Amino acid sequence: MALFIDTSRIKEIERAMKMGIVRGVTTNPMIIMKEREPGKPFSLKDRIIEIARLVSPYPVSVEVTSNEPEAMIEQAREFSGWAENIIVKIPVHGPEGELENIEVAHLLEKKYNIRVNLTAIMSAQQCLIGALAGASYLSLFGGRVNNMGYDAREEIRKARLVLDDQQLPSKIIVGSTREILNVIEWLEAGAHFVTVLPELLWGMIRHPYTRETVQTFLEQAQKLEEKT
Ligand code: E4P
Repeated sequence: MALFIDTSRIKEIERAMKMGIVRGVTTNPMIIMKEREPGKPFSLKDRIIEIARLVSPYPVSVEVTSNEPEAMIEQAREFSGWAENIIVKIPVHGPEGELENIEVAHLLEKKYNIRVNLTAIMSAQQCLIGALAGASYLSLFGGRVNNMGYDAREEIRKARLVLDDQQLPSKIIVGSTREILNVIEWLEAGAHFVTVLPELLWGMIRHPYTRETVQTFLEQAQKLEEKT
């Protein structure tokens, strides 16, 4: 059980690595678009290579930007050549429910020896299909599942139970964190990893009562020094 960081921001990744608290990085096109510095030139390749170097040997997930099977394969082959620890994200299906994505994931794992993170998963049954297809990682979007009115913990529990029962080696990464509480709850439910937004990661460390306690200790220490 461990944490990934869900960002492409170098400073945040660096900080988490210095703390020794994360075991991988996940990105997606939305994260990268949102985190790009406006007006500054940007290269996806350079950014991903920099992240991969920073966190090596831990994995870095980068998502294909096409919905066409051939283009996905081509991109996956390109991305995986950037560094050894790159994992290619393939959506479990396309916007029209295209089934070719599972074929692509299977081909990448079995023929091209490329590790796949099957992404945008919302249910335990999608996890099972992805695991049977041989995806190394399954990204279940916990926050989005909750937003649809279902309890993500139930999907995580069922998915983990089936994977373990069938001795399928795929690892479940639960993402789409919305609250600090998600992290422990989803790990407890059976996630192999939770990928956490940086602000929630720092929020996990900070506690108002710790602030108050440490402040009191520091004041007492100060008084002690004044008296001696
Ligand atoms: C995980 O791999 C995804 O990158 C991410 O957690 C999705 O989060 P969102 O639902 O906030 O877009």
